[in-house]
Amino acid sequence: MTGTVVEAGAGMSNQSSLRAIALALGFIVVSAAAVAAQSADAGKKVYDANKCGVCHSVAGVGNKKGPLEDAAAKLSADQIRQWIVDAPGMAAKSNAARKPPMKAYTLPKEDVDALVAYVQSLKK
Ligand code: HEC
Repeated sequence: MTGTVVEAGAGMSNQSSLRAIALALGFIVVSAAAVAAQSADAGKKVYDANKCGVCHSVAGVGNKKGPLEDAAAKLSADQIRQWIVDAPGMAAKSNAARKPPMKAYTLPKEDVDALVAYVQSLKK
């Protein structure tokens, strides 16, 4: 009898701690998604402020020779970052010949992070 009670008790607390873990994980996932959405929004502002649209397009708006959806589909976050901070180097590596060429941008790290999140968010 006592044994049953103890087992039931143990079972209960296991279940509720599992539930607590699940809740905590859910919270982490939701807040990570919110942070990503937030920096993508910030990235859109950096994109506009730096006039990336002169040479690139997003959703058909801007220069259609450089759709950033394509970049999002084929490049890793690291590669997108490299393009932003060292476009001449990346152009040489990938034999990109489109003119005018992209310059290397010297932006605060938060702006580069936000831009990378923004470009990644365009992936269909
Ligand atoms: C003067 C024109 C110009 C401007 C302004 C410009 N880029 Fe580029 N960018 C290029 C060219 C040219 C390439 C080489 C790939 C190609 O031919 O489209 C490129 C490549 C890229 C790539 C890799 C694309 C791919 O498909 O491999 C990314 C990502 C990128 N640019 C992001 C940006 C961002 C973000 C900005 C604004 C901070 C920006 N670019 C501003 C001309 C420009």
